[in-house]
Amino acid sequence: MIRLRDVTVAVPVPGHPAKTLLAGITADLDERRVAVIGANGSGKSTLLRLLNGLIVPTEGTVVVDGLDVAQNGRAVRAQVGFVFTDPLAQLVMATPLDDVALSLRASIRPRQERMRRARALLAERGLDGVAEQSVYALSGGERQLVALTAVLAVNPSIVVADEPTTLLDLRNRNRFLRELAALDQQVVFSTHDLEFAATADRILVIDGGRISFDGRPGPAVAHYRAAMG
Ligand SMILES: Nc1ncnc2c1ncn2[C@@H]1O[C@H](COP(=O)(O)OP(=O)(O)O)[C@@H](O)[C@H]1O
Ligand SMILES: [Mg+2]
Repeated sequence: MIRLRDVTVAVPVPGHPAKTLLAGITADLDERRVAVIGANGSGKSTLLRLLNGLIVPTEGTVVVDGLDVAQNGRAVRAQVGFVFTDPLAQLVMATPLDDVALSLRASIRPRQERMRRARALLAERGLDGVAEQSVYALSGGERQLVALTAVLAVNPSIVVADEPTTLLDLRNRNRFLRELAALDQQVVFSTHDLEFAATADRILVIDGGRISFDGRPGPAVAHYRAAMG
């Protein structure tokens, strides 16, 4: 359950009035799959980062599973997994195995058991063959699946994904979409891939930091296409 109420995000600009990145954002997001679309710089990433407290609102409130993100950043981040466009932004360990094991550190203390579990989670995504390779030796598609595996290892209730397929070729994009579709978690994602967006139950169209359309995929994509000319 995600509740955004009259959310504004503004950042200080030295010598100038504050720059408003988002304004007047109000939405209850309860659907299983919610897509966010909009032009470059429209505010998609800012909106998604609000959902796990990476950014806190300047005005208004963001409440996730009953927790106000401004007061409960750490608890919210335990509930909301975040997948970045570039998986290298979040893969901090040298190998997939170590990276997924790092995610499991709080929940499984004994090292051997933790490594076994990490290996099993990677195998579930067909990544057992690359578990001990350098993350730099993986394909972009494999890296993004490792990042997703690491995020899911802590059992989040919500997965937020910011343009997760932008760097992937079609085969890897399709593979990633299949993995995402199979998740029990609520997924909120941004994308420029309108076919991917149309798989959502609901689409928010962002334009200049505001929601310009909020509704079913068909009319939302039509609205966006018309607005982009
Ligand atoms: N920390 C920041 N300081 C100043 N401007 C920012 C900051 N973060 C984002 N912006 C600006 O806010 C706007 C929205 O950014 P963003 O949410 O990343 O858009 P999108 O993800 O839709 O491309 C852009 O114009 C961007 O340059
Ligand atoms: Mg962005």
